[in-house]
Amino acid sequence: MALPSIYSFLVFVSFLVSVSHSIPFIVIHGIGDQCSNRGVNKFTQQLSSFSGAEGYCVEIGNGSWDSWFLPLKKQTEIVCEKVKQMKELKQGYNIVGLSQGNLIGRGVVEFCEGGPPVKNLISLGGPHAGTASVPLCGSGIFCVLADQLIKGEVYSSYIQEHLAPSGYLKLPNAIPDYLDKCRFLPDLNNEIPAKRNSTYKERFSSLQNLVLIMFEHDSVLIPKETSWFGYYPDGYFNPVLPPQSTQLYIEDWIGLRTLDEAGKVHFISVPGKHLGISESDMKKHIVPYLKDQTSLEDSINKARFRIQGVNQKVIQSNRMEVEPSSSPLLDGSLSYSWPAPFNTFIGDLIGINEEKST
Ligand SMILES: *[C@@H]1O[C@H](CO)[C@@H](O)[C@H](O)[C@H]1NC(C)=O
Ligand SMILES: *[C@@H]1O[C@H](CO)[C@@H](O)[C@H](O)[C@H]1NC(C)=O
Repeated sequence: MALPSIYSFLVFVSFLVSVSHSIPFIVIHGIGDQCSNRGVNKFTQQLSSFSGAEGYCVEIGNGSWDSWFLPLKKQTEIVCEKVKQMKELKQGYNIVGLSQGNLIGRGVVEFCEGGPPVKNLISLGGPHAGTASVPLCGSGIFCVLADQLIKGEVYSSYIQEHLAPSGYLKLPNAIPDYLDKCRFLPDLNNEIPAKRNSTYKERFSSLQNLVLIMFEHDSVLIPKETSWFGYYPDGYFNPVLPPQSTQLYIEDWIGLRTLDEAGKVHFISVPGKHLGISESDMKKHIVPYLKDQTSLEDSINKARFRIQGVNQKVIQSNRMEVEPSSSPLLDGSLSYSWPAPFNTFIGDLIGINEEKST
């Protein structure tokens, strides 16, 4: 008598398993970018069609502008609120971060109180250990002055409150100032001995996978190894320490070492400029972590998703014919050119404007 009911229970369970599919992922874009831009939009769609997982680009405020001028703590709070409200993410989700978006993504993992669980964090060109240079402006006198100004004032509260990248600009020759006044990265990396928070470490080390993708020809992040948590020693601009030789790793401030020793950190190097990832590298290094990692019972679903993927691909290639473009999918250098309002912002600070100076 009991047998049939056990049997039907098993059937029911395996039914549940077979309809469950890949958990969703979110994409957090980089500075100067926004979800409605062709590059990020297409990137999200492609990942979704290659993996069979639902993907959402999560916008912060009005996009491009706010990515420059809202402090990263604020940007992280916004994403934290959004992911809490997205019912789709309740059972857990993956984060794909682009450049600056990785620090926000990691902020969500470490700081977001009561958010849905993050399983895999896939980072493309993330300034995880900081960056020693202001995002590119150019070489005109205006840019040289602006660069000097930002370097001189980057840890002032005014810049910290008004310029997102100041939250992760880590000048090796100004470490005491950085630790004292930089308002984002020192917390995120648990760098300040008196403020180290074991909760951040616990949350970060509970990731299932951390995929760190570095671009071999990245000239936006200085040094490019920051994508792997490698950085300069305090006080010096060389050599670049590999991640395993940094204090953050050795003393395991955030659990990077714990994750690595458990085989959960994947250090990947791909050819290309900042964010210039190829479709085949997307398939090789990102898609496997977005795919359902459960079981054989899912093969039917996978087949269904594959068909769906093919359809989407056809639609996409149609659209691309309509809108031919030879520019790379995600052009980091483009994203990093200074927007006009930013030039005005800097111009006001130094009391000149670009028209006069060039
Ligand atoms: C974006 O929002 C900010 C306030 O967060 C506002 O100052 C700015 O003008 C807006 N920019 C655009 C292009 O809408
Ligand atoms: C660590 O962070 C958690 C979560 O944000 C917070 O509740 C806790 O008070 C912090 N602990 C310390 C010692 O600052």
